[in-house]
Amino acid sequence: MKYENLLLEIKNRILYITINRESKLNALNKATLGELHFAITDSFNDRSVGGIILTGAGPKAFVAGADISEFATFNPDEGRNLAREGQTKVFDVIHNSNKPVIAAINGFALGGGLELAMACHIRVVSDNARLGLPEVTLGLIPGYGGTQRLTQLVGRARALELILTADMITAAEALQSGLVNHVVSPEELIIKSEEIMNKILSRSPVAVAAAIRAVNAGLTDGENGFEAEINEFSNCFGTADFHEGVTAFREKRKPVFKGN
Ligand code: COA
Repeated sequence: MKYENLLLEIKNRILYITINRESKLNALNKATLGELHFAITDSFNDRSVGGIILTGAGPKAFVAGADISEFATFNPDEGRNLAREGQTKVFDVIHNSNKPVIAAINGFALGGGLELAMACHIRVVSDNARLGLPEVTLGLIPGYGGTQRLTQLVGRARALELILTADMITAAEALQSGLVNHVVSPEELIIKSEEIMNKILSRSPVAVAAAIRAVNAGLTDGENGFEAEINEFSNCFGTADFHEGVTAFREKRKPVFKGN
């Protein structure tokens, strides 16, 4: 696929996806969401990719939201399709990815931008970034999972305050509320994201995938997270990675995981 709105690079088993609409503060239009869907699902079948680091082009914004100019004249049915398609094809795909996805938040993460970051498994943010869900200023509410994921991350009271006031918070405030994992300088943003990713990539890929599924199960309607954990845990015993991990421990050497 030819990408018009994304920059893609694979280096040392990490797929770097940069949303590249700097003049529009990397706002998520339909084309960008389509490319994100393709790039991410394509990487699931690419054995050279162990994990994904997602960031925005330029120094100002990670993503300043869904592209307002595209939905300005929508009716309720079009709004429903926008939210459903975005959630199922991009946000849920990232949330449920077996390969770890880290958001490197390099500036404004607003609306759909913060929702995109929240769908990722881990968030690293530069200290000059601002985060928020300003949809109520447009007469809307978050539609890409923001009401659910923010509440899961920071609790109902903090989520409601952020959504209802539409305030932008600082990176430090986001860290304090548990919305992000780490705050670093802009220069350290990718370095810190790579440090975390490289550590994960040195672990068993089958166990990493199982852990993501088990954690997500508890957040999914109709699923019993504890039961999912028992199943995922037991399946690990049938993997080559488990035998390699235990053998390496006994032989006092580092494991070499093959991911099966
Ligand atoms: N959708 C479409 N275009 C957007 C956008 C969005 N979500 N966010 C920014 N842009 C565009 C602006 O329209 C502007 O384009 P133009 O130069 O063609 O006019 C360009 O990006 C730069 O943004 P600008 O507003 O001039 O930058 P700023 O520094 O003055 O303000 C923000 C930065 C992030 C505070 C401001 O752009 C903003 O509030 N964006 C919308 C945030 C939002 O409500 N997101 C939720 C959408 S559901």
